[in-house]
Amino acid sequence: MAVTRTFSIIKPDATRRNLTGAVTKMLEEAGLRVVASKRIQMTKEQAEGFYAVHKERPFFGELVDFMISGPVVVQVLEGEDAVKRNRDVMGATNPADAAEGTIRKAFAESIEANSVHGSDSDENAKIEIAFFFDESEIVG
Ligand code: RTP
Ligand code: MG
Repeated sequence: MAVTRTFSIIKPDATRRNLTGAVTKMLEEAGLRVVASKRIQMTKEQAEGFYAVHKERPFFGELVDFMISGPVVVQVLEGEDAVKRNRDVMGATNPADAAEGTIRKAFAESIEANSVHGSDSDENAKIEIAFFFDESEIVG
């Protein structure tokens, strides 16, 4: 299987509870390597741009407000089949549906404050990585 990259966000509910290390440990234990990482305060414009695919969804405004409610940690993760590997360890969007051993089962507070984001395809991973990182900031 090919080594690929995916994009991850440790969301404000997790940074607020000082869970950056705990979440990253679970990512690493799942076979992913952090090849870029920075803690940022997203602007409203960045959050709206990042989640533009969801702009017609009823929860869009709340989601943007949540994502700018505190700092986030944006990361590029590398590993075999990284997109799927990351989605597997993240767990279901709604923590009530998330399997044991997943990040969202362990840490998510609600369907919105669900601790992590992960790209859903290789194509979106490339777009999302480029949204936050220059290639020179990614060191594998
Ligand atoms: P993500 O994009 O954050 O990795 O999560 P996902 O693929 O599992 O979920 P997605 O359907 O793409 O939704 C993006 C984020 O929007 C929030 N959400 N709120 N209130 C709601 O019903 C609702 N549904 C989704 C969550 O923060 C979700 O991760
Ligand atoms: Mg998604």
